[in-house]
Amino acid sequence: MLKKILLLLGALIVLGILSFYIFVQTSWNKTYDWPGPNLQVSQDSAVIAHGAYLVNGPAHCNGCHVSNFDDMMAGDKGGNVDLKGGIMFPLGPLGKMYTRNITPDEKTGLGRYSDEQIFRMMRHGIRPSGISSMPLLMPFWKMADDDLVAIVSYLRSLEPVENEVPENEWTFMGKAVRAMSSTFKPIENPDAPASAPPIAPTIERGDYLANYVTNCVGCHTNRDMMTYEAIGPEFAGGMEFEPWVALHKYLDVDTTLWLRAPNITPDPGGVMAKFKTPEEFIARFRMGRAYPFSPMDWGAFSRMKEEDLTAIWMYLNSLEPVKNDITEIAFTKEK
Ligand code: HEC
Ligand code: HEC
Repeated sequence: MLKKILLLLGALIVLGILSFYIFVQTSWNKTYDWPGPNLQVSQDSAVIAHGAYLVNGPAHCNGCHVSNFDDMMAGDKGGNVDLKGGIMFPLGPLGKMYTRNITPDEKTGLGRYSDEQIFRMMRHGIRPSGISSMPLLMPFWKMADDDLVAIVSYLRSLEPVENEVPENEWTFMGKAVRAMSSTFKPIENPDAPASAPPIAPTIERGDYLANYVTNCVGCHTNRDMMTYEAIGPEFAGGMEFEPWVALHKYLDVDTTLWLRAPNITPDPGGVMAKFKTPEEFIARFRMGRAYPFSPMDWGAFSRMKEEDLTAIWMYLNSLEPVKNDITEIAFTKEK
């Protein structure tokens, strides 16, 4: 009798594993045929100039869509670099992800895609191919129509640069996480506004930027390191950034150094306490990075308009203070 039960249990476990395997293999690469927003790209020079501001400033596309660390550093310092993609993001046990060529090249870049496909990527996190991306990487789903139009109009105005970028590589664990975690699901009803709050020192503008453009919330919130889902209060910090070994080597920095995002809610123990006025906050941003290997796009943010930085300062100070004392920013883990 016992033997039969054990056999049955064993068979159930094997069946369970098998159906999980089949589930992962059939659903990790699911495609979506949702339509993208119906918006018109513009050739108006003011619209394109606004797009340039967003791409190289608050929306920091140039922090990621470069092909090597030289360009990443040059872009951070304000240089004009090709957005031809190719930098590889190591996702630990999940696999490898590559940033794409977003110049208008017709063979390897955005020239292959319709405006609608590009708008859909930004708003829903669905790649031009229909495969879901990782919306948290580019959390622009509530970016207003007019800002989306400005960004795509600017990208369309760039010089095309040919650069073939390899496809992402997912391990079985990466595929399993893709199949199951909400982090890799497209955003269904983003409910984005038609126009962005005007560039002015208002809490509303700061809320819009910090959550949907500059992505302060993405990094300054504690997240599960496997699925990147939030596990702590927003803006209260605590997320730990594993050393990006290739970047640390490039910069000749200790490859065991981790970084922790500070608490940017207005708690007296948080980092906002250092900036009593918008002027002090702006001065810190104009300074750029203190840690050369910080994942934060200090360079791009240093070029933000005064009104926008003030708006972010006002918004962060309007949040509920959360006590979460973060003492060590750079640290190494016990081996
Ligand atoms: C934090 C890094 C990061 C930032 C910032 C970023 N991207 Fe991306 N982007 C990526 C990665 C990585 C991919 C590939 C995603 C994937 O494979 O699922 C990607 C994919 C894309 C794609 C899809 C291209 C394709 O062929 O699949 C477009 C379009 C795009 N990004 C545009 C932008 C624009 C415009 C901005 C700024 C407003 C931006 N990105 C900011 C990392 C970033
Ligand atoms: C890609 C991740 C990332 C993004 C996006 C990001 N930060 Fe950070 N931030 C960090 C990390 C990590 C640190 C600690 C290392 C450092 O100081 O660079 C940090 C540090 C800070 C500090 C402390 C600076 C100091 O001098 O002590 C402030 C203030 C800050 N961030 C505000 C913001 C604001 C505001 C935004 C949005 C405009 C933002 N961050 C976006 C990751 C990020």
